[in-house]
Amino acid sequence: MRAVLCKTFCKPDGLVVEDFPEPGAPGPGQVKVRIAAAGVQFVDVLMIAGEYQFKPEPPFIPGMEAAGTVEAVGNGVRGIAPGDKVITRHRPGAFCERAVIDASAVLPMPENLSFAQAAGFTSAYSTAYHSLVQGARLQPGETVLVHGAAGGIGLAAVQLAKLMGATVIATASRDDKLEVVGENGADHLINYSEGGFRDKVKALTGGRGADVVYDPVGGDVFDESMRCINWGARLLILGFTGGRPALAKTNHLLIKGASAIGIRMGGFNEHEPELARENMNKILQLAADGKVKPHVSHTFPLEEVAAAMQVIVDRKLVGKCVLEVT
Ligand SMILES: NC(=O)c1ccc[n+]([C@@H]2O[C@H](COP(=O)([O-])OP(=O)(O)OC[C@H]3O[C@@H](n4cnc5c(N)ncnc54)[C@H](OP(=O)(O)O)[C@@H]3O)[C@@H](O)[C@H]2O)c1
Repeated sequence: MRAVLCKTFCKPDGLVVEDFPEPGAPGPGQVKVRIAAAGVQFVDVLMIAGEYQFKPEPPFIPGMEAAGTVEAVGNGVRGIAPGDKVITRHRPGAFCERAVIDASAVLPMPENLSFAQAAGFTSAYSTAYHSLVQGARLQPGETVLVHGAAGGIGLAAVQLAKLMGATVIATASRDDKLEVVGENGADHLINYSEGGFRDKVKALTGGRGADVVYDPVGGDVFDESMRCINWGARLLILGFTGGRPALAKTNHLLIKGASAIGIRMGGFNEHEPELARENMNKILQLAADGKVKPHVSHTFPLEEVAAAMQVIVDRKLVGKCVLEVT
């Protein structure tokens, strides 16, 4: 089968696509899946560079999420059958034609999603849902400031925060990206490459500031966010695409009665598996009901994995970027 290989930690153009032995029959509790599409994420770019918190030993097949069709199930697997369309999660190993994974990493695919939409769905929406529900305890009527709102986890947060009855102020670095963010429900759009966002957020909230800040960018963006928050604000720390973590000024947190809250899905899944499963069922139902709609801005064939990752590095992505595999 064809597979993407990371033979040594590298930039996207260091990846190779090669013939690779197909996995055999699934063992007990395992499922074999023909992968139709795989989601490409910022995390994959970090992982192949050896810069992610979890560092697989090269050579490895990258890719954390995919969607496809079940080909075979091992002994003891219940509720999953050959022919089922499924969403799959990998640690890593999604960028190839076939994979054998634990049945616990296989989810039913909502019928109204395409393989491409389903491939990029779970990580973004489960992260956004956990952040807003358990992290921020978001209440209807509150104002959420979503940074990097055109990104994978950003756009999911825009859609979910609107569903939860919040007012959404969304930031991104380009007007064309913001246009799509607006089509996805954001109430107010700010291009933060044009002189920051603090004064605009203050003006939009009658001087109060945001109740919740959803921040995958960090650095200067986090620092500026600290200057436009309401009393009791919750600042959700999701990632550092801007290049550096910020140092939260505790005196500012104190003055505003505010909290800085770290979000780590890996830790949440490990420490609170039942709640994580409940969340996942809820977001799958929201997708099945058409209440959230994953947006895919770019698709590439498997062979063009480097180009797909470069879209992320170049900040061109809106929503998700997907590899079409089989
Ligand atoms: N904590 C968790 O559990 C968790 C879960 C999933 C992902 N993450 C992290 O969250 C972050 C975002 O993930 P994602 O999948 O949404 O990524 P993404 O789709 O690539 O979106 C990231 C956004 O960050 C913005 N950005 C700002 N500076 C950037 C830079 N120098 N390079 C690239 N993008 C930049 C971009 O928007 P503009 O160009 O509009 O600024 C982009 O839309 C990553 O750091 C990822 O590791 C964390």
